[in-house]
Amino acid sequence: MDQLRALETPCLLLDRAVMERNIHRLHRRLRTAGVPLRPHLKTTKCVEIARLLVRDQPGGVTVSTLAEAGRFSASGFQDILYAVAIAPNKLAHAAALRRSGTMLSLLLDSADAARAAGAAATRDGLTFPVLIELDVDGHRSGVSPDPSVLVSLARAIHAIPGLALRGLLTHAGSAYDGTSVSAITAIAELERSTMTAAAATLRDAGLPCPTVSVGSTPTALAAQSYEGVTEVRAGVFAFNDLMQVRLCVCSVEDIAISVLTTVIGHYAPKNRMIVDAGWTALSQDSLRHSGVLIFGYVCDDAGQPLEDLVLTALNQEHGIVTRLSGGTIDSGRLPIGTTLRILPVHACSTAAAHDRYYVLDESAQIVAAWPRFGGWTESG
Ligand SMILES: Cc1ncc(COP(=O)(O)O)c(C=O)c1O
Repeated sequence: MDQLRALETPCLLLDRAVMERNIHRLHRRLRTAGVPLRPHLKTTKCVEIARLLVRDQPGGVTVSTLAEAGRFSASGFQDILYAVAIAPNKLAHAAALRRSGTMLSLLLDSADAARAAGAAATRDGLTFPVLIELDVDGHRSGVSPDPSVLVSLARAIHAIPGLALRGLLTHAGSAYDGTSVSAITAIAELERSTMTAAAATLRDAGLPCPTVSVGSTPTALAAQSYEGVTEVRAGVFAFNDLMQVRLCVCSVEDIAISVLTTVIGHYAPKNRMIVDAGWTALSQDSLRHSGVLIFGYVCDDAGQPLEDLVLTALNQEHGIVTRLSGGTIDSGRLPIGTTLRILPVHACSTAAAHDRYYVLDESAQIVAAWPRFGGWTESG
């Protein structure tokens, strides 16, 4: 543990063996079902990890920003789906990526955005492959699966020069409201059945629909059938987090990232301990645990949860640790300077706070520091 204690905190640790196990688990699951993974790189935003995510897969990836598209394209990833509805001010960036030879697919759910994308493509003599985003669960965005609405949008897109309609995409985000694996399995089936019915509607109307793209981590891990689905997208599964534990699709031992932090104080009047990881290192994402709002589990520096110690409040650079039981924290056992690890509530937002992963091998030795990028510009 000496190596960890020498690191300046807070910083982000990645347990490579746990991540590889998580990746292998979903790869194996999807291979058995005969459907490829198009990993979502928004959680990890790291070239080294992306290469592990596409190992033994066709190679297509999903991104949430054009900055990701640019970085991954420069590292050899050529089949990239930008899975956020395209804004007009991003079309020049998208066209530049397309011009450089990247097979960048766009997501659309309106005729206005489609016309703008078509105009940008034809200006440069390009074609954008496009997917229509379908709303299967009233969660966030996308077009209604009502055949009249869907077919009319699909026809409009199909007729626009510069766009090549490739099919449908959905993200059943309501899986995150699931309270049991069976509830998530039901949402996964809703996702699959709505999408395959919509794909049949398009094909019956003589429109192309080779791609039926579904996914989130909970539905990918809980679905019972992928019939009619051509690809699954998921991102969090590589790291996992307390949200996925709460959804019962993984266990605490499957969480691959943690924030290394140091005890900087004890505040006896309120039975609190203070650490140097605040919301800038962890994000503000929280969940309710035994009726208490928490921001992370507190573990020892080997990653083992410490009894009922949890983070219950965050300031910018302070994390407030209390016991779920409300009892006192033994300052003799956890003196100032003690190195601890925090398991995150939401891997995407915690990882987004950091610019590198300190990669640990199975004996908790730091074997690499892998860069992680953020921002919306390719230099950011
Ligand atoms: C369009 C889309 N696809 C896939 C995913 C990946 O899902 P998860 O974050 O559950 O891994 C997301 C996540 O927000 C998404 O927005």
